Amino acid sequence: MQNDTHLYHVMHIIGIETSCDDTGVAVVDGRPDGTVSILSNCITPQDHNATGGVVPNIAAQHHAAAIIPTLELALKEVHCQISNIDCIAVTVGPGLMPCLCVGVTFAKKLSAAHNIPIIGVNHMEGHIASTFATHPHVNFPAVVLLASGGHTMLVNMERVGSYDLIGETRDDAAGEAFDKVARMLGLPYPGGAPLARLAEHGDPHAIVFPRPMLHDDNFDFSFSGLKTSVLYHIRDHEPLLENDRANIAAGFQEAVVDVLVRKTIAAAREYVAQTIIFGGGVSANRALQKRLRETAAQELPETHVIIPSPGLFTDNGAMIAIAAAPRALRGDFDDACNIIANPNLRLL
Ligand code: KG4
Ligand code: ZN
Repeated sequence: MQNDTHLYHVMHIIGIETSCDDTGVAVVDGRPDGTVSILSNCITPQDHNATGGVVPNIAAQHHAAAIIPTLELALKEVHCQISNIDCIAVTVGPGLMPCLCVGVTFAKKLSAAHNIPIIGVNHMEGHIASTFATHPHVNFPAVVLLASGGHTMLVNMERVGSYDLIGETRDDAAGEAFDKVARMLGLPYPGGAPLARLAEHGDPHAIVFPRPMLHDDNFDFSFSGLKTSVLYHIRDHEPLLENDRANIAAGFQEAVVDVLVRKTIAAAREYVAQTIIFGGGVSANRALQKRLRETAAQELPETHVIIPSPGLFTDNGAMIAIAAAPRALRGDFDDACNIIANPNLRLL
């Protein structure tokens, strides 16, 4: 559906994200020069104390209860009415089916009730777009490292909208490995951030865990064996002292950092990347950010590393609106009938 009347206007875009546990709604302005402004980015997190992880149907119930108040808050923060909105962007996949359905159904109803055009967005494309908030003009080709709770992949991007998957995890995602090891150490879910905080008190070289597939001649990953070797280490050394826990966290994080950074740098070298984009919840990890920046500066000094700014690392509505902005500005909207939740949506 093309509509040229939108070509030269700032577009006020709502982004709706419900693919996993957190309910995100944002209001973002997209401008014809490619820049965006995040006006509000509201997240209603789910409390995992009762479940210890994400249970799809319970998470979907949470989204159903949270989505209207989160939308109201996102509009109220910017003193904006729904009638001022030019486009609704919604995550259609990948993610958990019942959770995606809440966001998609809500977005379609909102679109129909207020006659607002709609765009379906790939969640992983949203994670890439989260870096465009601060870096609207990326030099291509770019190699993208996407590391979240559900995915770990390396993508070669020749331009915006062109994705060549060059490597991915064969088992657990990097974030999933953080969450599982955090659980072994008695930390709350999601475990990435608390594990990273514990690791700050440990020695990353005290325990050397395996670096799976580091020397394989491909860009794939595997984190399941690393997770198992942490499990065996814990079993062999129980009861753990506080210092042991910190050393395990630091040693595990060091192994993940090593593998992700070395494979990303190798991919950037092979694909002659001008930019390395790092997105997904695991991009919140400071040790990983630091190592990626330092290694790129040393080994590929011409390559620029871009990482989302705080607040945009983990799932949020703003990244979904930013991903939709170029299409919204072109008036390239979806037909609501074609917007269907797809839990296995590929980035291609
Ligand atoms: O992208 P995201 O919010 O959700 C998915 O799309 O999966 O990523 C969530 C993942 C979780 O596994 C969480 O533990 C991890 O990101 N994560 C971190 C950190 N903060 C969040 N992993 C490592 N270090 C962190 N600081
Ligand atoms: Zn995500």
